[in-house]
This record gives sequence, C-alpha cells and structure tokens, in this order.
Amino acid sequence: MSGGREWGERGLGEALARVSRRGPRAASTTLPPPRASDWTGKFTGRSPVALRPRTEAQAAAALARCAARRLAVVPQGGNTGLVGGGVPLHDEVVLSTTRMVGVTRVDAAAGVVSARAGTTLAALEAAAAAAGLTIPLDLGARGTCAIGGNVATNAGGARVVRYGTLRSTVLGLDALLADGTRLDLTRPLRKDNTGYDLKQLLIGSEGTLALITGVTLAAPRATVAPALAYLACPTWAAVQDVMGLARARLGEALAAAEFVDAASVALATAHLSHVSNPFPSSAAPYFVLLEAAGVDGDHDAAKMERLVGEAFATGAAVDGVASAAGARPAALWALREGVPVALRHAGACYKYDVSLAVADFEGLVNECQKRATAARGDAVAVGYGHLGDGNLHLNVSHPGPMDARVLAALEPWVYEAVAAARGSVSAEHGIGLAKASLLPLSKPRPAIDLMAAIKVAFDPEWVLNPYKVLPADAARAGAAGGRAGAG
Ligand code: FAD
Ligand code: MLT
Ligand code: ZN
Repeated sequence: MSGGREWGERGLGEALARVSRRGPRAASTTLPPPRASDWTGKFTGRSPVALRPRTEAQAAAALARCAARRLAVVPQGGNTGLVGGGVPLHDEVVLSTTRMVGVTRVDAAAGVVSARAGTTLAALEAAAAAAGLTIPLDLGARGTCAIGGNVATNAGGARVVRYGTLRSTVLGLDALLADGTRLDLTRPLRKDNTGYDLKQLLIGSEGTLALITGVTLAAPRATVAPALAYLACPTWAAVQDVMGLARARLGEALAAAEFVDAASVALATAHLSHVSNPFPSSAAPYFVLLEAAGVDGDHDAAKMERLVGEAFATGAAVDGVASAAGARPAALWALREGVPVALRHAGACYKYDVSLAVADFEGLVNECQKRATAARGDAVAVGYGHLGDGNLHLNVSHPGPMDARVLAALEPWVYEAVAAARGSVSAEHGIGLAKASLLPLSKPRPAIDLMAAIKVAFDPEWVLNPYKVLPADAARAGAAGGRAGAG
C-alpha cells in the first residue's frame, strides 16, 4: 500500500474485520498501483487491503484470520514477477513480505546463508560477498525482488548455466500454511533423503501452497573477478558454435552465457541513456556475452582470450571485445540487462519466456517477426536470453498501447509452436495468471490433476493465490473436491 500503513496484531484484526464486515468487494480501500499492478503494467486487479507484517507471528495471525473468514490471500514480495502471479485479481488480500527483512545467517565455513523472505536479492548478495561467498542466483531485478519471491518463482537468471536452478541450491525453507500453521523445513542439510521433499514443492509454487517466510541457500565461495567476452556473430549457427566453444574451453569456469540480437541492442540503446553499443557499425545479427570466473583470474582471462581467438579463426565471431580479469564490466551487463527495461519504455510489449532447443530460436523469432509485421508495420520482434540454458526471451514491441491485431497474430500461435517443438511455455518466469490456461501445453492431464490434488492437500479451502498456476477447470474441480473433503 503506498503510504505504508503497518498492521500490527490489533490493526490487522481491525483491517480484516472491516474487510469481512463489508464484504471484500464492497471495501473502499481498493489498492492503488504498484501493489495491485505488476511491473509491466499488463496485469492490474483489485484488492481491499495490503497487509505488511513485520514478524512471522503477525504473518501467521494474518493467514489464520483470512483462512477463518475464507478470504483469499495473494503473497507478494518485490512485485517484479512477469506473469501476474503477485497481482490481486478480484478481492484478494495482499500479504506483502517487504517488512520481513534481514539476513539471519552467513556461515562462511559451511557455505550457507539464510534470510527472511522479504530480503532483497541484492541485500543477500552483499551480505554473502562480505563473507567471501556468492549467491548462486542473479538477475536484473536484484535490487527489488525478494528472496522469498525468487524461491516462490524458482527464478532463473544469469547463473543457472553454472549453478543450476534454485531447486539445486535451496537447502531449507521456513513457511506458513494457508491457516497460519508453521511448516519448518529449515534444516540446512546437503543430504536429507527422508521421503517426499516438501520444500521442492514450495519452490516454484508461486504463492499457491504456502507463504515462504525464510530461505536457506547453499552459497559457494565467491569467485575471482570475472573475465568477459562480447562477440558479434554473423549467423545463428555461429552463435551455437560460440556456445560450444564456451563449454569446451571454459569448462567449470563458465559463469554466464547470454545473447542479444541486433533488434534488442537497437532498442536498449534507443531507450536507455546509460547503455551503449560496443560495435555501433556492426551489421552482425547476434551478440553473445560470455563470463568466465574461477579461482585464478589470469587463467580465466587467458582461457577467454584463447576462446575469442578461436572464434575469430573459425569465423564464428566477426567482432569482439574481451576484458582482462578485473571489475565486472558493467557496460556489457547493462546492455544485456537493459533489454527488458527498454522494452517497458518502448510501448506495448508482448512477452514470451520459453524453453526450446537452441537451434530453433532463430526460426521462432523470424516467424514471429513475420506475423507481427503482417498485423502491424511498426512491430519489432526481439530475441535475447539465457543461451546456456536454452531459454529464449521472445518479445514483440511497438509504440503505443497493446494492439488486439498483434495479440491475435501471436497468440496462441507462439505457445502452440513451442509445444509442438516439445519446449516449455514457461522457462523461468513461472505460470502465474498469464499462463494458467496454457499449462496443458506443457504438462499432461494426469500431471495437472496431481498438481490440483497437491494444492488441495496444502490449501483445502483454496485461499492462497486462488486464480494462479492451475487452469480454471482443474482449479474448479480441485476447489470443489477440497471443500467436500474438508467438510
Ligand atoms: P513477486 O513478483 O512479488 O511474486 C512472484 C510470485 O511469487 C507471485 O505468485 C507471488 O504470489 C509469489 N510470492 C512472492 N513472495 C512469496 C513468498 N514469500 N511466499 C510465497 N509466495 C510468494 N526472472 C527470472 O527468472 N530470471 C531473470 O533473469 C529475471 N529478470 C528480471 C528482470 C527484470 C528487470 C524484472 C522486472 C524481472 C525479472 N525476472 C526474472 C522476474 C522476477 O524478478 C522474478 O520472478 C522474481 O523471482 C520475483 O520475485 P519477487 O520478490 O518480485 O516476487
Ligand atoms: C531477463 O533475462 O532479462 C529477464 O528474464 C527479463 C525478461 O525476460 O524480460
Ligand atoms: Zn531471463
């Protein structure tokens, strides 16, 4: 809630009593943006109230009261999610973790860090770095997104190519069930083979199973300052060759492998004053950003230079810059991380975060451009993303508001094309509101039915983020079954 009213135990009770007396829809305190809207501005809903507890006990009391009144609750962290998962749709109570902050443990010897759910990723990274550790997750929204939100979305980002997804680095979680009961899954053990791993169910559950209140991560030792290379590639085949070289020549030092296409670069440099193009006169269609970071900076820089030389010799790169080991060259990362920000400034943005074989990226972007152009002459398809993970961020941009003709040209075609290629309709951003109806394109029906059954087991009254993740038919069946079972 802008203005920042804090609800303590008593205030919380009063706020909820007011909401339930009037009925959620009649409450007048409809939330203003940003809490009722998302970062892209695409999803805007309504909510009578936002609760911002400071303590886990307050959060538990809030959940218990909401559950008793069958009031739906939307957990919210930094509200940087890109699929509308943290946006209240009709009349849900927003439960924000922005005041539940603080790094609670940094154990350099064990390589373990813990933080409360609302702690920003940047704050956690700073605390880890001070102890010589690093967080195996990094993404452009680091200053605003919260670690609880990161875990709830199983966020990906630029380090997956090295450390894997959060599923492999979350050691423990503290959570509250829908009725406020604590679920303590906090033992920070590397090995714990004791049956179903419930914390894995919470990772990527997008606020539909529990409120995550604390996170414990394995934090590897910080590497030395990275060596970077930014290479201009003449063809998509050349991009794949560079990726092959990166895996072969950098080995375990490979720390990031990202790509942007020429349209992304044009957009970022046009809309962001802090971003510049290293090769302004290059006609190359694709650019690859590689980072190597191991235990010996000179060695990493030498390996990177050899890689760049080989890329030039084979024609995989036609232009390139390689930085010696030193400070993380901010300008190159600003260009890559600036693309989504520029898209937000540029006007309408149709966003597709998909996984598929890297070989298929170019064809999908080109077909997308054709369709977008047929619908509207000034629409531009841009492709960028996490090359090393097979994660394409395909976006279509044009000035002004969203255009129904463009949307109809792109959807459902793009998702069906990804499904036909046996890709995933969501590589890393999650399902949220945006893709709930698309889940059947990436998951078979028995899997969706099991997901609904798991939802009922955690949240029989279906009060936690009720309109997200599951398609409406599975949600309806699950909710009805859950209530019948509970009754
Ligand atoms: P929110 O947006 O507040 O919530 C996201 C979802 O998690 C919602 O469904 C919400 O209900 C749920 N949730 C939030 N907190 C909790 C909690 N404590 N317990 C239970 N459920 C909770 N994502 C990537 O994967 N990779 C990227 O590289 C990347 N880059 C980005 C760059 C920019 C500029 C932006 C704006 C976003 C980017 N994102 C990226 C998307 C976003 O930052 C991530 O999804 C992030 O993990 C969301 O965290 P949050 O705290 O903002 O969550
Ligand atoms: C990124 O990698 O830049 C993010 O996932 C954001 C986006 O896809 O736009
Ligand atoms: Zn991404």
